[in-house]
Formats: sequence, structure tokens, C-alpha cells
Amino acid sequence: MTFFAKLHPLIVHFPVALLTSGVVFEIYGSLKKDEVVETAGRFNTRLGFWCIFPVLLVGFLGMLSLNNTEKFKDYLANHLSYAFLTAGAFIVAMVVSRYFQNKFGRVVYFLALSAGLFCVINTGYYGGELVHRFEVPGSAWTP
Ligand code: HEM
Repeated sequence: MTFFAKLHPLIVHFPVALLTSGVVFEIYGSLKKDEVVETAGRFNTRLGFWCIFPVLLVGFLGMLSLNNTEKFKDYLANHLSYAFLTAGAFIVAMVVSRYFQNKFGRVVYFLALSAGLFCVINTGYYGGELVHRFEVPGSAWTP
């Protein structure tokens, strides 16, 4: 049943785009002391954060339907690792921004956002390789 494996690539673009634009806007807004840009970034980051969870779930369900994973197993493993690191980095960012609203908390928050941006870009890179180089799920599914 490839439903979830086909659904995953359709919905992943929301968190990737929201988190990427959100982090860039937050950093830019903070450096330029532009509150409007920073607030827009915060909104995108938070919306993107909540979109990660259905994407993780659908990714898992999609993966269960794959066979013949041998030739792209390294890409799948890297995709999975970066997906978890992305979720971890943004969870840290959200917890810190909620409970540590001091100068130190702000530094940790921006470090976690930057780590999250790095991880989400890598998650997308490895996911894209799965779909466009290895033609997953097509090549990995035998009826
Ligand atoms: C932060 C969470 C995640 C993000 C942002 C993400 C992102 C992506 C992207 C961008 C693609 C390529 C889509 C395309 O080029 O059209 C992809 C494909 C894929 N991802 Fe993820 N992914 C995430 C989590 C997961 C998880 C947890 C799994 C499995 C346990 C997974 C398994 C797959 C698989 C198997 C593909 C190949 C297409 C398919 O069979 O669905 N992903 N992902």
C-alpha cells in the first residue's frame, strides 16, 4: 500500500518552506532590529514546527510499504536521522522560547533555530535524492 509513500512527498514542502523562511526571517529581523520581519518569521517557524509531526508520521507509514531498499538504504538512513535531528532542534527551540525568556535563552534559541535550518535542508536533500535519483516509491514497490 503506497498511499503514504506517495502522500509524504506531497506534504513535506509545507514544513520545509515554512521552517526555512521562518528561520531566515527571524535571524534577519533580529539582526536588522525589524520587529515586523521577526514576528512574521516566528509565525512561520511555529506553523512549520506543528507541520513536522504529521509529516514524520506519514513518512514512517510510507517507509513501511517499501521493499527493495538496499540500493538507497544509506540515503534513507540519512534522511531519517536528519528528520529526527530537525524535530529535536525545533523542539529545543520551542521549549527554550517558552520557558527561558532571558538573554541566554535567546542565544540558545537562535543556535537551535540555525541547527534546525541546517537539518531540515539536509532532510530535504536526502528525501529529494530518494524521489528523484532512486525514484522511490516507484522503484521500491512490487505489487
Ligand atoms: C522533518 C521531517 C521530514 C521532512 C521535512 C521530510 C522531507 C522529505 C522530502 C523533501 C522528500 C522528497 C520529496 C520530493 O522530492 O518530492 C522526502 C521523501 C521521502 N521521505 Fe521524508 N521527510 C521527513 C520525515 C521522514 C520520515 C520520518 C521518514 C521515514 C521514516 C521519511 C521517509 C521518506 C521516504 C521513504 C521518501 C521517498 C518518497 C516516499 O516514498 O515517500 N521522511 N521526505
